[in-house]
Amino acid sequence: MEKTFLMVKPDGVQRGLIGEIVKRFEQKGFQLVASKLMVISKEQAEAHYAEHNGKSFYDELVQFITSGPVFAMVWQGDQVITLSRILVGKTNTLDALPGTIRGDFALHTGMNLIHGSDSPESAEREIGNFFKPEEIIEYKQTI
Ligand code: CMP
Repeated sequence: MEKTFLMVKPDGVQRGLIGEIVKRFEQKGFQLVASKLMVISKEQAEAHYAEHNGKSFYDELVQFITSGPVFAMVWQGDQVITLSRILVGKTNTLDALPGTIRGDFALHTGMNLIHGSDSPESAEREIGNFFKPEEIIEYKQTI
């Protein structure tokens, strides 16, 4: 079953949007298989955002993501990587359409509430950066 890494960023946690965000993935039909509220270390943030190292917003990005608790999650389901990116909405505020999480709740490109893996390779790397294998619970839906 395909898995992806999703993370409510510090702005989403502080605005009380964890429940709203989790609800959207649940109502789509995806399964939550791991989650934790955590403050991420600078090393973890640098590993997570390695591809952005050198960009103008990199330092701000690492500072922001380590500034308070995040809600890290692993979700599974058919096409969950692509479909969850659609539910999340575009990174650029002006492109994030109403009906998406960012389109409905985010006003800034930097503080955009949620991160979602953009490919199977990113999902595997990001899940491994935040969760031990034994923290991911495999279960079949029985209802
Ligand atoms: P995310 O998709 O989680 O991963 C990369 C992050 O970099 C992105 O969300 C934004 O939070 C941030 N980001 C991308 N572009 C900019 C930008 N131009 N200015 C500030 N932050 C940005």
